Amino acid sequence: MTIIVTGAAGFIGTNFVYYILSEHPDYTIIGYDALTYAGNITNLDKAIENHRFTFIKGDIRDRDAVYKLCQKTHPDIIINFAAESHVDRSIENPSIFIQTNVEGTEVLLDAAVKYGVKRFHQISTDEVYGDLPLNKPELKFSEISPLRPSSPYSASKAAADLLTLSYHRTYGLNTTISRCTNNFGPYQHEEKLIPKTIQNALSNKAIPVYGTGLNIRDWIYVLDHCKAVDSIIHKGRNGEIYNIGADNEISNITLIKQILSSLNKSEALITYVEDRKGHDLRYALDSSKLKKEFPALSFSPFDKALQRTIEWYHPTC
Ligand SMILES: NC(=O)c1ccc[n+]([C@@H]2O[C@H](COP(=O)([O-])OP(=O)(O)OC[C@H]3O[C@@H](n4cnc5c(N)ncnc54)[C@H](O)[C@@H]3O)[C@@H](O)[C@H]2O)c1
Repeated sequence: MTIIVTGAAGFIGTNFVYYILSEHPDYTIIGYDALTYAGNITNLDKAIENHRFTFIKGDIRDRDAVYKLCQKTHPDIIINFAAESHVDRSIENPSIFIQTNVEGTEVLLDAAVKYGVKRFHQISTDEVYGDLPLNKPELKFSEISPLRPSSPYSASKAAADLLTLSYHRTYGLNTTISRCTNNFGPYQHEEKLIPKTIQNALSNKAIPVYGTGLNIRDWIYVLDHCKAVDSIIHKGRNGEIYNIGADNEISNITLIKQILSSLNKSEALITYVEDRKGHDLRYALDSSKLKKEFPALSFSPFDKALQRTIEWYHPTC
C-alpha cells in the first residue's frame, strides 16, 4: 500500500506519518509538503531515516508536480492535510486560503481521478459548521448540519469538502471526508493556542486571550485524530463524511489556567485582548456515526494527554 500524505511537515501531518509508519509496517508513505512557514522538515527527521518514507517538497497547487508524483508512485490513497490553517491569518489575507485550500484540493482531486487512486481522503474541520451558542450545551453538529463557516479559513475548508463530494458524485471517485475538532499534541506551530500558552508561560510573557476567554472548543489529542483517520481511510464508507469529536469541551480561559497551574505559573500572565473578528463561540460535534461504525476506537483521557503535551514542549516539567 502506498499513501501520499500532503501537508506531512505540518502539525497533524507529521503525527500521522509517524502513526502510520508504526501501525502499518508494510506501507510506503510519501510526504508531500510545500514547507510554508507552518511546515517544519525537522519534524520528519526520524521518518526520513525510515526506508518506507520519502519526503518530496512540492505545492499542491502545482498540477505538473502533483501529476508527476502520482505517475511515478502510483498511490493507493491520497490524504490531504495540506492547508493554510490559521484563522487569524485568513482574516488578514484570505486569498492564499482560497488558493491552497480550494484550488490545491481541486488539483489533488483531478490527480486522484486521472491516476485511479483507490481512496481520496479530505481532512476537514468542525469549523465548517460555524458555531453554537454558549447557553445551549445540548446542541451539537452532525454530519448533515448545514455548512455556515464564519471565517475565510473555514469557508475555504467547506468549499474543499463540497468539491470532494462533487468528485465522488460526478467522476465516481472513492472519497471520504473527516471533520475534526481542535487538536493538541506534539509538533504544533507555536502560533496556536496551546503551544503559545506554554511558550509564553515558560518565558514569563503575557498570554493573550481573545475577548472574555469563554469561547468553548472540543479538544482532541492529535494521535486520537490520527487513529480515527486511519480507520476511516481503510473502512470508512465511500462518499461519506465522519465527524471526529472527543467530548472534551473546555473554555479557552479554563484551558489556559490549567496549563499555567501545571507549569506553576501565575494567572497574572493572562492578558485579555480585543476579540477576534467573527469569533466562533462554541464548537461541539455529534460523533455518533464514527462511534457506531468504529466501536473499537477509544480516545485518550484529556488531562493525561494535556500533561504529556506540556511535557513534550517543556521536557523538564
Ligand atoms: N489543527 C487543528 O486543530 C485542526 C482541526 C481540524 C482540522 N484541521 C485540518 O487538518 C489539516 C492539518 O492541520 P495542521 O494543524 O496540521 O496545519 P499546519 O498549518 O500545522 O500544517 C499545514 C501543512 O501544510 C503545508 N502546506 C501549506 N500550503 C501548502 C501547499 N500549497 N502545498 C503543499 N503543502 C502546503 C504546510 O507547509 C504545513 O506543513 C488542515 O487541513 C486543517 O484544516 C486541523
